[in-house]
Amino acid sequence: MKMLLHQVYFLLLAAFFINHVYGNTCSQKTTTYGYVCVCNSTYCDTVPQIYVKEGTYQQYTTTSQTLGFSTSNGQIKSVSEGYSIYKIDLTNSQPKQTVFGFGGAFTGSTGFNINSLPSTAQDNLLESYFAADGIEYTLCRVPIGGTDFSLTKYTYDDNHAGDVDLKYFALQDEDLLYKIPYIIKANELSNNNLELIASVWTAPPWMKTNNDYAGIGFLKIEYYQTWANYFVKFFEEYAKKGIKFWGLTTQNEPLIGLLPTFISEINAMGYTNLQMNFYFSYKIP
Ligand SMILES: *[C@@H]1O[C@H](CO)[C@@H](O)[C@H](O)[C@H]1NC(C)=O
Repeated sequence: MKMLLHQVYFLLLAAFFINHVYGNTCSQKTTTYGYVCVCNSTYCDTVPQIYVKEGTYQQYTTTSQTLGFSTSNGQIKSVSEGYSIYKIDLTNSQPKQTVFGFGGAFTGSTGFNINSLPSTAQDNLLESYFAADGIEYTLCRVPIGGTDFSLTKYTYDDNHAGDVDLKYFALQDEDLLYKIPYIIKANELSNNNLELIASVWTAPPWMKTNNDYAGIGFLKIEYYQTWANYFVKFFEEYAKKGIKFWGLTTQNEPLIGLLPTFISEINAMGYTNLQMNFYFSYKIP
């Protein structure tokens, strides 16, 4: 089959903008960092829907001048190369990648801050991220235990050195108070379209060579299988709360686990390439 190569040139000039549509206008507030849009108990910005017809595009912009979800439509035009500022080649017949989703992370500190708002403001805030009149996040990350955005350093089996059967494995307050309730709400707001990916920052200190949450530390070889089972436990405990996961990454930023604590104090665990390969030879049951 003959490959169709469409060369589309965008000439990004104001004259092309045919239409400006705004969501609810930004309730502006000046801060030391510049303007922000305020979302409160009775009011929050909304995001205008997509209005693209064939041959047109729609762009959303937020800048300090056009706060809120400002959007405009324009027409895709082929112009001679001499006029183009940007050139984008689209090969419609051979898509190489599909975008699975966009999103953020349900960390302990995110939930803690959401929780500090009046409940109607919480609803407005979550709606602006997950609902149809918001930015419709569909793919979010959930930390397995503590992260660099946690209130404390913790794992799900602290203070039980040698607990290879993970008898003391338990979700913590951050999960129960600050992650799970908001994940459930967000999933409802997105009409169950939310996909979740889990990532871990550190194993319990007793499984590590440095017996600490942070600093230069690796998983001890004798705990590789326990550590694989730990992931399974996490998924089981979340499933009991009605939360299913689409994916898993086995370690957040392994290089942080090669840094001494005077450089980084965050929950971390190091892997070399070899250790990572070796770890993957362990089966997650
Ligand atoms: C919320 O923001 C709106 C828009 O700026 C404002 O009119 C209203 O008074 C605010 N409500 C509260 C409770 O602060």
